[in-house]
Amino acid sequence: MIPLSLAQIAQITGGRLHGDAAHPVDAGALVSGEVVIDSRRVSVGGLFAAVAGQRSDGHDFAAAAVAAGATAVLATRPVPAPSVLVADVLDALAALARFLVDALPAVRVAGITGSSGKTSTKDLAAQLVERLGPTIAPVGSYNNEFGHPLTVLRADASTRYLVLELSARGVGHIAQLCRIAPPRYGVVLNVGHAHAGEFGGLDQVARAKGELVEALPAAGGTAAGGTAAGGTAAGRPAGGVAILNADDPRVLAMAARTQARIVTFGVQDPDASVRAADVRLDDLGRPSFTLLTPKGSAPVTLRLHGAHNVPNALAAAALAGELGLGLAGIADGLSTAVARSRWRMEVHRRADGVTVINDAYNANPESVRAAIDALAHLARDGRGFAVLGHMAELGDISRTSHEDIGEFAARVSASSGSGLAGLIAVGEEAAPLLAGARRVRSWPGEALAVPDGEAALDVLANRLKPGDVVLVKASRAAGLESVAADLLREADR
Ligand SMILES: Nc1ncnc2c1ncn2[C@@H]1O[C@H](COP(=O)(O)OP(=O)(O)OP(=O)(O)O)[C@@H](O)[C@H]1O
Ligand SMILES: [Mg+2]
Repeated sequence: MIPLSLAQIAQITGGRLHGDAAHPVDAGALVSGEVVIDSRRVSVGGLFAAVAGQRSDGHDFAAAAVAAGATAVLATRPVPAPSVLVADVLDALAALARFLVDALPAVRVAGITGSSGKTSTKDLAAQLVERLGPTIAPVGSYNNEFGHPLTVLRADASTRYLVLELSARGVGHIAQLCRIAPPRYGVVLNVGHAHAGEFGGLDQVARAKGELVEALPAAGGTAAGGTAAGGTAAGRPAGGVAILNADDPRVLAMAARTQARIVTFGVQDPDASVRAADVRLDDLGRPSFTLLTPKGSAPVTLRLHGAHNVPNALAAAALAGELGLGLAGIADGLSTAVARSRWRMEVHRRADGVTVINDAYNANPESVRAAIDALAHLARDGRGFAVLGHMAELGDISRTSHEDIGEFAARVSASSGSGLAGLIAVGEEAAPLLAGARRVRSWPGEALAVPDGEAALDVLANRLKPGDVVLVKASRAAGLESVAADLLREADR
């Protein structure tokens, strides 16, 4: 954050300063630390934004935040602390973030969206872009109307790049995030079924994700509302670049919705500008490939697990290349990049030789398929067990989606000859997985329904042998990461 006085913050947010005799407010007091919505994360000189959540109301923690060092509180009603009172805290955060972006014209802003792989790609891209200069990227999945402005607000005069993750649960959401930090570079990974129930189908998902490329400035000329010579009114350069997945027709079709220059990436499409050839997976499912770019080719070995990380790596490579990183830096950066965010395809081998894949961060049909492919690879010479909880937010396609995934799992196993020895569905909503698996008559595995994670652990305890591989995956709400953690603790016994 660039230092702002409380008077400036009030002006930017359309708010008013508030204090009382016990908590006087000083219009000149500076906010120079982070803006946070979690009072436990307050830093000295920071700003605490009071947000009312389902379980608690940030206003109740205003005094504690200031006691912990915050300069002031952004609030919608009087609190016992120096504060800026606004009509809506999220609107105020958005206004502050936009002010900051406009005040830092040297910062290049990139947005990444898609149904699956945003965080994985953002973490890869950030590790590449950091080679070019100071970069701010969200922690974990800070990608919505809260996390996005809070991330942007971490930028300061030294920042050169913002690598942002943009999420949507409906049409208009990404457009709004783009107003907060207008991107010049936009990456669209894929259009899939994540939150498909809320969107009402894939075409609506595509409509929403494409708002990112619609927000980009034109390729060479002026940005919308901008001035001549490739600069916007705020001094931000035009020269928009849309980085699109050529393997996903709904994403490629977004080319028609932007005036930005198009750069494509893809594993399958031979015409994509950034491609991967000779993709191979090692024993733990880590991909190696030859990175093919307009500037030449280079070998890459990812430290991440699963073939689905290849398109993510290509997207990150395309973005970093556009920002000016050379081929050698990209190839080396991809090969040394680590998983920065938890519970996405974490592969651990226990002392007793059982391998645990903790992919419990979330689940949708595409990411479960990707994880099952990875399980089939890791278990190709042995036995695999998939502990799957439900995929949330699929609306009226929920039951059939679960059945299809169960069938997919059994089919992958039956056709590859690699052993999915057991499919364990956790909770009632996941049970249709089993009906789907039973459709595949040639699949010899066990299909088991259990009520919760504890019961899944009991089932596994009686079955696991050295050499087995267990995948744990479900939507966030299922909380199956504790199953993975317990499985790993078993190893210490
Ligand atoms: N390109 C991809 N295709 C399919 N699945 C993927 C892809 N990339 C990542 N995944 C899987 O999707 C899950 C979520 O990954 P990640 O957190 O990177 O996605 P996200 O888009 O940020 O999700 P969220 O919407 O929760 O923020 C993980 O299980 C991961 O292994
Ligand atoms: Mg994410």
